[in-house]
Parts: sequence; C-alpha cells; structure tokens
Amino acid sequence: MPARAGRDANATQEVTVPFHTIIEPFRIKTVEPVRQTSREERDAALRAASYNPFKLRADDVLIDLLTDSGTGAMSSAQWAGMQRGDESYAGGRSWFAFEAAVKDITGFRHVMPTHQGRAAERILFGCAVSAGDVVPNNTHFDTTRANVEARGATALDILTPEGRQPQLIAPFKGDMDLEALERVLDECPGRVPLVMLTVTNNSGGGQPVRLANIRAVAEIAHGRGIPVFLDAARFAENAFFIKLREPGYEDREPIEIAREMFALVDGAAMSAKKDGLSNMGGFLALNDDALAQRCRENLILTEGFPTYGGLAGYDLEALAVGLKEALDPDYLRYRLRSVAYLGEKLTAAGVPIVQPPGGHAIYIDARAMLPHIPAELYPAWALSVVLYLEGGIRSVEIGSVMFGAQPDGSEKPAPLELVRLAFPRRVYTQSHVDYVAEVILYVNERRARIRGVRIVEAPPVLRHFSAVLEPVAGSLMV
Ligand code: F0G
Repeated sequence: MPARAGRDANATQEVTVPFHTIIEPFRIKTVEPVRQTSREERDAALRAASYNPFKLRADDVLIDLLTDSGTGAMSSAQWAGMQRGDESYAGGRSWFAFEAAVKDITGFRHVMPTHQGRAAERILFGCAVSAGDVVPNNTHFDTTRANVEARGATALDILTPEGRQPQLIAPFKGDMDLEALERVLDECPGRVPLVMLTVTNNSGGGQPVRLANIRAVAEIAHGRGIPVFLDAARFAENAFFIKLREPGYEDREPIEIAREMFALVDGAAMSAKKDGLSNMGGFLALNDDALAQRCRENLILTEGFPTYGGLAGYDLEALAVGLKEALDPDYLRYRLRSVAYLGEKLTAAGVPIVQPPGGHAIYIDARAMLPHIPAELYPAWALSVVLYLEGGIRSVEIGSVMFGAQPDGSEKPAPLELVRLAFPRRVYTQSHVDYVAEVILYVNERRARIRGVRIVEAPPVLRHFSAVLEPVAGSLMV
C-alpha cells in the first residue's frame, strides 16, 4: 500500500495527489559523470584524508550527501539569467532583480547581498551582539553558534522537548520552547539583543517550525522590545511543511506562506546556497533603519559595495530566479517526498533515524544504531566514515566531533549523535536514492562490527572541518 499521507504528523504530500511514484519535475539536459571506486581505493582515500570526510577528494565520492549547500543543479532559466548578469560595480540590473525577488518574498526594507550565509551572520551579530549577551535560537547551526561565540556572547539552543526526542513522530519538531524563551528573557534582562529561529531546524534534524510558533516567539520577544530574526536557509521547505501540516494552510501557495513567515519577524539572515537554488550567495535583510545602516557599513568593509555584496552580477541573477523556483509546489513536493522515501526504506528495515524525515536530509541516529560505541569514540563520525568505505557515500557527522568542544577547551558529548545525509537539490534521481538505501541497509546488518574513532589532532574552533582522526581498533570494522 503506498502511503497516502494526509495531514499527518509526517505528511510529505497532499492527500489529493493521485499517484505516488516520485518523479523528478525536470528533464536532464546536462550530465556530469560520477565515478565508481573499489573498496580498496576508498580505504586508501580514507587514510589519505585522515578519516575526515571533509578532506576526501570529491572525485573519489560516488554519491555526495555531505551537504545540500551550494551543491544544487541550476535550471535553464537560471543559466540564462547568468548570461544576462550585469557586472556593473554599482546599481547593476542584476542587483535590482535580486533585491526585487528578496523583497517580494520577505517584505523587508533593507536587503544586503553577502557571499554566503555566515557572512550575513557575522555582519548581523557584529553589529547587534556584544560580549556577555545571550542569543536564543531553536538550534544554532555550527557557523551561527561560532559567530555568536566569536562576539563573546552565549548561543543558547531552546528547542521544544518534542524536538529533542529523535524517534518521536510529530509535525513541527523545530519549534522553539516558548516557556524557556520567556524564562531566558526574564533571567537576562538587557542581555538578549535578538532572538533567532532557524527554519527548517538543520542541526535538529531538518524539522520545520510552525507559523503559530514563529508568531508566538515574535509576540514574546516584541513584548520586551527584542527583535526576531529568521535563519532562513531553508525557508521554502519550511513553508511547504506548513502547507502540509499546519491546519488552515492546506490551500495556500508556498510563496504566500513564506511571506507570512517573514512578515512576523524583523529580519533574516539567509544562506541562499540552499533554498536560493544557487551555488553561491546569501543575504541579510531587515527593517530597522539604524541597524541596517551599521550593517551596510560593515558590508562595504568586508564583503563589497551594497549592490553586489560578496557576489558577481551573475550570482545575483541566478538567485533572483532560484529564490522563486524554490517555492514551486511541484519542486517542493518532489523534494520532500524523495527525502521521506529514503526515510521510509530505512525505517522499514529498523534503521533508527530522526523522525519524521526532515526537509533536506535524513539523519541516522548513530547512538541508537551503535549503542556499543560510547560518545567519546564518536559513533556518528565512525558511521559516516563506514558509509563511505562500503558504498562511496559521503555524509556528515552532526554529533560530538562537531559540537563536543566547549569554548573553555573542555569536551562535552553533544545531545545527539547524528549522521546527516543531505540531498543536493535537483541533482540525484530516484535510483540514486535506492542505491543509498541499499548501502545503509548493508552497513546496518554489519553494525556490530563497527568500531569508534579518536581525534588525533584538531583546532579549537569548527574542528570537524580539519580534524585528524584514526580508528581506535586499528580499523573501522573488525
Ligand atoms: N544557517 C543554517 C541553518 C545552515 O544550514 C548554514 C549552512 C548556515 C546558516 C551558514 O550558511 O554555509 O552559506 O555560510 N549550512 C551548510 C550545511 C554548510 O551543510 O548544512 P553558509
């Protein structure tokens, strides 16, 4: 029986859709070969990369699910836009196209293009956050956390209790804990310069945030004169989840829902490498004139003139088209369905994943899958490396290697040990997804043989990008 997902907690398509085969809503016009490698070649590649997937050569990867950031395929309309890109230093046509697209969707008064999301974060926090401040978020992404901490402030994650239970099926596990928010604001008067909501909640499993939660967060914060910002990297996926799961939104277009999300808050930092459907880009957009002025000065100092930020004219043009394409219901339905399809295959085989599947990725719960590996031996990192060894699939650990190092130099296990399989947008087909499922099931059958890893060498900040690791047992599988 094909799942006829309705307005269930894990719905990924409308009840009215009569057919259930997932078809990619595009034809393929250009192809790029991917290369098969042997297990021996992958073993050697892992050694050369000191067991760090970030250090693998992409040519040695068969299916690259490291990230959905900047890895998407652009449409013919975007490529056509790139040809039209206006490279004028100031006031270029492409800038106006980009600004119009961002304003049409977000409604914010001030739009600043940046080379990617973290530049928008750095500029925003650099202008609004001081040492000793506290920034609440449902869950900070790692660069967002690092940029808050770089200001000497505390990055506080206050997800609902539901969102912290990986196996629980609930529709909006990205919601912020409203009571915790009120408590933080009461306990830290004058020290919370802004509240942030990450949509969808990447580090918490790609889970959506309901409009009612955005509204409530805004009411609580605004009641104390505190602005709210969205980390809008995956705003379009969040909007489609609202359409599918939040009562009253079933007949609304994704673009209308997105506009409503942004209308409730005061600004947004966006990595447009996700739901901007482009390979590079980001923006900071907000309403506060004085803050915008300070941010724009910083933008000029570090990114570029305000009408191009850190981008080429052709990037701005690709984004102007991509931001709209990302809100196409056919595209969003295919996207959410194909991620859920992998989730369903894994769940049916007993592989523990964060439930329900997120918008852009499947997160394997490595602590549940590998209970014999303690947090100190980084179970999620070990699993991610084994998926490469056995099947040439690159994924990313979101666990104690990424989040375990504390600002004071100590080590604390992360709340969850996850392996994220992120889907690049419009890149892989259904048979690629079937292959990924087959490899994970193969590894799952051999899970008792997987051993942990240790860190040999790592920098203190964002250590996962460059850490040197080794298998504790001399080999990943015994
Ligand atoms: N916010 C969120 C929620 C993100 O997922 C990312 C990046 C950023 C901000 C930073 O944006 O990379 O353009 O500077 N996430 C990527 C990922 C890297 O793999 O999830 P950026």
